[in-house]
Amino acid sequence: MNEVYDKLMHCYESVRRQVDFVPKVALVLGSGLGDYAEGVRVEASLDYHNIEGFPVSTVPGHAGRFIFGYVGEVPVVCMQGRVHYYEGYAMSDVVLPVRLMRQMGAQVLFLTNAAGGVQQGMRAGDLMLLTGQIASFVPSPLIGPNCEKLGTRFPDMSEIYNRDLILIGRKCAAELGIDLKEGTYLQFTGPAYESPQEVAMARILGADAVGMSTACEAVAANHMGMRIVGISCISNLASGIAPQPLSHEEVQKSADAVAPKFKALVTQMIKEIGKTCR
Ligand code: HPA
Repeated sequence: MNEVYDKLMHCYESVRRQVDFVPKVALVLGSGLGDYAEGVRVEASLDYHNIEGFPVSTVPGHAGRFIFGYVGEVPVVCMQGRVHYYEGYAMSDVVLPVRLMRQMGAQVLFLTNAAGGVQQGMRAGDLMLLTGQIASFVPSPLIGPNCEKLGTRFPDMSEIYNRDLILIGRKCAAELGIDLKEGTYLQFTGPAYESPQEVAMARILGADAVGMSTACEAVAANHMGMRIVGISCISNLASGIAPQPLSHEEVQKSADAVAPKFKALVTQMIKEIGKTCR
């Protein structure tokens, strides 16, 4: 059998012994964005600690639990806190939560993160809709024996971020009067922030924002055939562009500052996305 799949199913069975909620949309809340879940009509919650075999995050500000509930009429599962590759987990563990939410029934994966802005014209506090990504600086979560039950050996990645969901993002931002940037997200391993030279490289490669999560999760979700949408909250200008050194506190503070705009956009988008689900 496949070890990764067995572990996933073990976690899934542990969840199902405790919660029977079936989500349509899975929402991953990035650094400083976790309190979005307070606006969800909560039906149940489940601490990661209470799921057998589940990887538990160690980062401050990443409370670890699933929240099950409704945004409007749309059943969602929110991840309040994710695990990162830099914490020392195998990539297959980093993406296990996303795979688990797919098993629970989620059709759409809504990824959010805090990221550093790389392109000129970006400002701390901007929101960026992900239109593409560069995942080549982290190991693929698909390395190892392929599990056909999850997806095919050589999955296509030509449209990781779903076109229809990008259109929904644009439409909702326009309705809310939010200036929504768009661009490519590049994932580095972290945990150190980039050097100015690495940021310069990222810009040459076509990145608009850099961070330490998301792209690997999108690869795993795309492998499983989920429709994916992503928003980066530009919490700072990346190293060499920012006038001052970076700190985790600064990243969390700016994420807090954009929270109202972020919440409004995510809520509106989920309501629209719900209409596209079966
Ligand atoms: N770099 C990498 N990850 C980040 C940053 C950054 O500048 N800001 C928030 N997450």
